[in-house]
Amino acid sequence: MAVGVAEQKGEGAVLGKPLNTPAAWKAPDVLAAPQRWQYEFTDQDIEELLAATKHALATGKPVPELTTADFPLPTLGPKLREIVRNVTHGLGFHLLRGFPVDRLSRHEVVTAYFGLGTYWGPTLPQNAKGHVVGHIKNLRVGIDDTLPDGVTARVYQTNLAQPWHVDAGDTVSLLCLKAGQEGGLSRWASSHSVYNELLRRRPNLVEVLAQDFYWDRRGEENPGEEPWWKAPMITVRDGWFHFNFSDLVPKQAEARFGDIAKLSPLQLEAFAEVNCICEHPDFHLSYQLQPGDIQILSNFSQFHTRTSFTDPEPEEGGEDNRRHLLRIWNLPEGGRPDSAINPGFPTRRGIIRAGAKPYAPLEAEE
Ligand SMILES: [Fe+2]
Repeated sequence: MAVGVAEQKGEGAVLGKPLNTPAAWKAPDVLAAPQRWQYEFTDQDIEELLAATKHALATGKPVPELTTADFPLPTLGPKLREIVRNVTHGLGFHLLRGFPVDRLSRHEVVTAYFGLGTYWGPTLPQNAKGHVVGHIKNLRVGIDDTLPDGVTARVYQTNLAQPWHVDAGDTVSLLCLKAGQEGGLSRWASSHSVYNELLRRRPNLVEVLAQDFYWDRRGEENPGEEPWWKAPMITVRDGWFHFNFSDLVPKQAEARFGDIAKLSPLQLEAFAEVNCICEHPDFHLSYQLQPGDIQILSNFSQFHTRTSFTDPEPEEGGEDNRRHLLRIWNLPEGGRPDSAINPGFPTRRGIIRAGAKPYAPLEAEE
């Protein structure tokens, strides 16, 4: 170590100073270097995936109990671990193409995706029902702007545009089964670069985001818990930066809980500025997932969203051709310590509700 240089803690973040991390990318740079974040499954990978799926099904175990030992991938496994390392410690995202969705039944594809995910760490529950494989599909349940008590539809159950946000878990991954008719672009932005730009444009808004907000638990609280929690969006702990952004959830908290959760004009300005930076073409990538594409993102360094979409009109007795993605949340090994996590992100281990057993449904459920 050079004399006078203190040992770097975490990723070397200091609140109020620009971040210099591999995840602080700008779109033109990563678009010019697709080999850093794109991977196409080889014929051998696909043979391994198909054989591992057969092997996993032959164990007779329920999907949530499968481990890497039940899903042997002798040469693909190490590549998957390298990919997840790029997500947690590198660029923060990766795109994989050519997962053999058309060669697998629904049960097989859910098994295969979960099995692949075991190489990315434990798979986490995504809702109060304990779903470890989520189905992103328009259930036409509708969503109420004010979300009064009892209304718990989440945006992934609709065809609406999503605001910029992060999911629970260290990583979020989607596998596309069907692309839908129009729209539904998957987009992601580096929260590290967005922070750097916010610091350059409006440093006072970084301070605003580093103070407490009210977060709505959206009806998924455990007995005895408040229906909200309070925490900042930006934290730096032990040298680790964590930007847990959502404008939707604090707005829902304001709508449901009134004055206690009232947002100030500066807080609203901070939301608008973050959204404005995310929307700038230099700060996000936009991608139309096709059947067999998998995206994986780190929630510690990437925000994500998707545009609204339309599904084809259902035909009487015809196939269900609605846009359909599967989702898994993982907690890869060797990530950041728990002490470095933003307290506004209580869902690092997923959405855990007492009594809910891990479950991998084969179809979307309300
Ligand atoms: Fe999400």
